[in-house]
Amino acid sequence: MTSPTEGAARSELELPRDEMLALAQKAAELIVHRLEHLAYEPAWRGGTRAELEALLREPPPEEGRPALEVIERAAQEILPFACRVDHPRFFAFVPSSATWPGVLADFLCAGHNTFQGTWLGASGPSQLELVVLDWFRDWIGYPETASGLFTSGGSAASLDAFVAAREAAGAPERATVYMSDQSHSALSRAATIVGIRPECVRKVRSDGYFRMDMGRLAEMVAADRAAGFNPIAVCANGGATNTGAVDPLGAMADFCEAQRIWFHVDAAYGGFAILTEKGKKALEGIERADSIAVDAHKWLFQPFEAGCLMVKDIRRLEAAFSVQPEYLQDTQFGREHPNFSDRGLQLTRSFRALKVWMSIQTFGLAAFRRSVAKGIQLAEEAEEYVRASEWLQIANPASLGVVCFRFNPRDSGYSHEYLEQINKKVQARVIETAVAMTSSTSLRGIYSLRFCILNHHTTWQDVLGTLQAIERFGLEAVASTAK
Ligand SMILES: Cc1ncc(COP(=O)(O)O)c(C=O)c1O
Repeated sequence: MTSPTEGAARSELELPRDEMLALAQKAAELIVHRLEHLAYEPAWRGGTRAELEALLREPPPEEGRPALEVIERAAQEILPFACRVDHPRFFAFVPSSATWPGVLADFLCAGHNTFQGTWLGASGPSQLELVVLDWFRDWIGYPETASGLFTSGGSAASLDAFVAAREAAGAPERATVYMSDQSHSALSRAATIVGIRPECVRKVRSDGYFRMDMGRLAEMVAADRAAGFNPIAVCANGGATNTGAVDPLGAMADFCEAQRIWFHVDAAYGGFAILTEKGKKALEGIERADSIAVDAHKWLFQPFEAGCLMVKDIRRLEAAFSVQPEYLQDTQFGREHPNFSDRGLQLTRSFRALKVWMSIQTFGLAAFRRSVAKGIQLAEEAEEYVRASEWLQIANPASLGVVCFRFNPRDSGYSHEYLEQINKKVQARVIETAVAMTSSTSLRGIYSLRFCILNHHTTWQDVLGTLQAIERFGLEAVASTAK
């Protein structure tokens, strides 16, 4: 059969076959080379606005240039100026280390330009998304009524959850949501987008372990109801970003059931710990939530963007989002053939489930369980090291891969202010020397260093080397700082 384009002039926006393949090969080589050398590179690299303006500011060229040059420029002048969130010593914020099949899945999806808003648009991909969501459903322990959708990330997942919660409550006036003072800023932002007034975003003080204080929650809900507010959702942390804290999920589920309030768990970073024994225990009760946000681009080792919202009764999500305009009338095939655009914000959406599927097909689930378990274990070992160290002090015990501590020599008697000054210098030195990348936080006003250990490449030597560097930097800071 002759190709319909054979003999026809090529589009101006097309490359010859051999060049396409050579460029793909080049791109793959650049990435593999980067991955092979990552551990020997600094954990981050940044540029000032002035430096990067000088490097990158230019008008779009009227005529094209060789594609190879363009790729090389991207690889040398643009992409390296970034945190290497997949570096084995990147412990800051929430790291992400993608598996190669996941990376290739994104390439395949882009190459197929899959439109996964409707069943008609992509039935194979839609079926696969259903399958992967059922995997998640089973890991969580959700009933068969549960399903969800892939989203850009945890922020979008919680946003969609709030819409479902609001609609389930009958979209009342003065709709009010509750979360702990440790909840991620994504939740208050989602509440704002959903139209919840700032005074209706209620932050509940957490307990000594940064977990939701149930007594306080109950008091606030009762007082708010009496004052005419309408509680529509209570949010729990299934791994708070600051400390890894898990809220008392069972008690919160009891409370929400009794109060008839939607119960949402933000397990964006911590949720996939459910694949391990320890994580399952820590997250006990999560299966009672009405909705759960989980990010496969965090602890399921996928490239950005791979968030997910799971809802215990998928009909409640669809009831909130389903719209059927005339121009999409050809896409309606009934409940058995869902249109994912009826479950969330996006109509045009990429096929994110493929990366999870290809990675798990390639390595097997057992390898993922072990890789998640390793992060939990390394954070616990870091805690042990800190407890035994003469120079370091635990600020919050290890929980789901996160551990917080500070430089504070045993019995130092240093003032709060002095310790803050020293630890800020330590953090600055870590960044400056790029031995690792860590981020700091503030725990009830105490400046604290924080490790989040989620990378499957990270070894104990990476953790130990960073802790020892922190001890050294702390001693240097003390030596150079007047008390
Ligand atoms: C607990 C938690 N919730 C929400 C988010 C936001 O998720 P995303 O950045 O994927 O939108 C994060 C990100 O780190 C998180 O750790």
